[in-house]
Amino acid sequence: MASVAGMRVLVTGGAGFIGSHVVEALSAAGHEAVVLDIEPPRLGLGVPWERADIRDPDAVGRALVGVDAVCHQAAMVGLGTGFADAAEYVGVNDLGTAVLLSAMAAAGVRALVLAGSMVVYGEGRYECERHGRVRPGPRAPQALEQGRFEPPCPVCGAALTPGLVGEDAPVDPRNVYATTKLAQEHLAAAWARATGGRAVALRYHNVYGDRMPRDTPYAGVASFFRSALESGLAPRVFEDGAQRRDFVHVEDVASANVAALGALERVAEAGALRTYNTGSGEPHTVGEMAAALSAAFGGPAPLITAEYRLGDVRHITACSARLREELGWRPAVGFEDGMARFAAAPLREPATAAPVES
Ligand SMILES: NC(=O)c1ccc[n+]([C@@H]2O[C@H](COP(=O)([O-])OP(=O)(O)OC[C@H]3O[C@@H](n4cnc5c(N)ncnc54)[C@H](O)[C@@H]3O)[C@@H](O)[C@H]2O)c1
Ligand SMILES: [Zn+2]
Repeated sequence: MASVAGMRVLVTGGAGFIGSHVVEALSAAGHEAVVLDIEPPRLGLGVPWERADIRDPDAVGRALVGVDAVCHQAAMVGLGTGFADAAEYVGVNDLGTAVLLSAMAAAGVRALVLAGSMVVYGEGRYECERHGRVRPGPRAPQALEQGRFEPPCPVCGAALTPGLVGEDAPVDPRNVYATTKLAQEHLAAAWARATGGRAVALRYHNVYGDRMPRDTPYAGVASFFRSALESGLAPRVFEDGAQRRDFVHVEDVASANVAALGALERVAEAGALRTYNTGSGEPHTVGEMAAALSAAFGGPAPLITAEYRLGDVRHITACSARLREELGWRPAVGFEDGMARFAAAPLREPATAAPVES
């Protein structure tokens, strides 16, 4: 790998929401970014880019020429539309990652930062007063139907207190997307072992901010709310609104990527993958987020609907201390300020209903 300043970094998915911010943050930090994406960049990113599918080995090989490190953001995101798109998720996210990693192995590129996700933890970590730390299974559809949204203690059925998940917590992906994000990490770890490469997976929390895609089945909750407000509608908050998340601003996620690229040699051993939860460290409920966004937008108050999605987990809040301690990273955008900016920021029109149709 070249010296820390002035690396040439391939950003896959660099035309996307997070990827485009990573490109900007890399340029601002004095690195040279190149982009591979199936969509053209919507803004003039001012960097070289290759429009190609991540599953195309020739195109990926071309994009890797002269590259010191890869920041892998390209993926099919979101919860999708039931099970019909499972093969497409696995194709883009896992086959695509395998194609990228084997091209990196062939090209001698030994540095990788992977966009991971909190979804790998499933329902996360809870405490029962009597049974201590427990891991509840998926919530029963009847319970959700009856408005019992909190997962009960799997031993005694008592109410639980949600806790912060650390990177070494057992993984438990609950839907196809989550499964593909976990497989990406396993593939990256296998690549590191086989090639002596170094990898970091940043397990992002709920990322929000400008250029977030408009509401599609693939978008995040903040985008649904923001899109509703723009249409003059109240944000529709599922369940009872008390589900907890950590909303992290896209600029902070971009700066975490730059920090990880710069620190790879220090934090990841040759042949290993190191994981970092990437959140603001300040959990909020989805109801609070909707309320903050509505207030900042000057729109109608959120509607609590008691609707639910089977693949959703109740609370996902991780501890992002490792990222702060080992990479010296700090989020710069607070919750109130970030929501105010997001209320005023333009969303991105999705190029196609689904990210990939090729
Ligand atoms: N947004 C979040 O809250 C969040 C949370 C956790 C993890 N992530 C991860 O962050 C990364 C970026 O997500 P995002 O939110 O910016 O989504 P996004 O859809 O805006 O960006 C993904 C980019 O990948 C590109 N892409 C999709 N399929 C491709 C293919 N076959 N070949 C080449 N490029 C392809 C898309 O065109 C798009 O530009 C993803 O890996 C996602 O899993 C996002
Ligand atoms: Zn119990």
